Amino acid sequence: MSTTLKNADLQARKNAATPRGVGVMCDFYAARAENAELWDIEGRRFIDFAAGIAVCNTGHRHPKVVEAIRAQLDCFTHTAYQIVPYESYVSLAEKISARAPSTYPNKTAFFTTGAEAVENAIKIARAATGRPGVIAFTGGFHGRTLMGMALTGKVAPYKIGFGPFPSDVYHAPFPNPLHGVSVQDSLRAIGHIFKADIEPTRVAAIIFEPVQGEGGFNPAPVEFVHGLREICDAHGILLIADEVQTGFARTGKLFAMEHYDVATDLMTIAKSLAGGMPLSGVVGRADIMDAPAPGGLGGTYAGNPLALAAAHAVLEIIDDENLCERATVLGDKLKTKLDSLRGDVPQIADVRGPGAMVAVEFCKTGSREADPTFAKQVQARALERGLLLLVCGVYSNVVRFLFPLTIQDAVFDEALGILEEVLTEVVGAAA
Ligand SMILES: Cc1ncc(COP(=O)(O)O)c(C=O)c1O
Repeated sequence: MSTTLKNADLQARKNAATPRGVGVMCDFYAARAENAELWDIEGRRFIDFAAGIAVCNTGHRHPKVVEAIRAQLDCFTHTAYQIVPYESYVSLAEKISARAPSTYPNKTAFFTTGAEAVENAIKIARAATGRPGVIAFTGGFHGRTLMGMALTGKVAPYKIGFGPFPSDVYHAPFPNPLHGVSVQDSLRAIGHIFKADIEPTRVAAIIFEPVQGEGGFNPAPVEFVHGLREICDAHGILLIADEVQTGFARTGKLFAMEHYDVATDLMTIAKSLAGGMPLSGVVGRADIMDAPAPGGLGGTYAGNPLALAAAHAVLEIIDDENLCERATVLGDKLKTKLDSLRGDVPQIADVRGPGAMVAVEFCKTGSREADPTFAKQVQARALERGLLLLVCGVYSNVVRFLFPLTIQDAVFDEALGILEEVLTEVVGAAA
């Protein structure tokens, strides 16, 4: 794109034209992006380890995604599926329903954003059970709508000033061995909720992330997920896996729930489902999905045809390019690199995550006290060198890596080199 625009000028216009509540990490503006690289309007190149917050597992502008959208553009861009339906919605529902890990026949409905998928999963669970209550977890993130915020277990910046939130939502601590919360602590806390807050017969659903995303890339231990299933089975509660961030090969499986021998009742999907186009969905047991009456689910743009075309291409790319295997290979390489730096970087308290859903957590040297300043400095210095990283975690002391799984080896190695330099530099500055 040829442009005479300057980042600084646009930044001033942005500050005048848009509210500060839409917080923006970078002070440069995108001009174009290709696979794992991105260029700003002044021609500067960045390696993108943010991937639009876990949206571009198949890279920016994968040729097959671009081609699929282009072909759909030539047919129609919008009819509203609820008015005039189209085949691509039905066939994507068939594919997702068949591939979601489940022992039951599934059905799938499409929406637009992750938060909308979460909202609808709760609506479906309430309609199916006739119960109001929902249990979620500290550190969980489920979106910025009112129910999304109610379910989210992180106050700043998501919930401040926005209450009151929908009622009948309760939080239990998510297992976090590094910060002293065991699986038993978490499961016991649900028992306490049943004693102190709401009787289990009024609870519709328990919602959890198989790997907490915004909360710090905390994987749900296998015994924990089994424990949740047992609690749900004992009380007729539905189990919802929020796979908005974990889905579509990121963890080394198409869905993170494939790592567990546990069936959920409902699953939310979004982000990398459509390679950069806005599309989300709820997939789950057919009988539960059919609980809401006709007209109860949907939305004007829900299941947009361009996004559906992209999603069909994404599923093909994941299979054709073996992206689940590639996620594991690249994730292992990154974890090996980070582990090898532990001696030189004593602030590394943990390196974790399945497949390529990898994070490094920083604590003050020799303690378990979170070190958000260290994480921020790593992020800032990496950005100066052209590597885009995201911070997450309840204590904002975790750096997460969300590179496209299609990243070229040379670009990946270049990024690891930058990361190593930056970590060593930040240790030096902190000494
Ligand atoms: C697990 C999870 N659920 C829901 C959401 C909300 O998705 P969206 O921002 O598309 O509304 C996110 C977004 O980061 C997420 O990570």
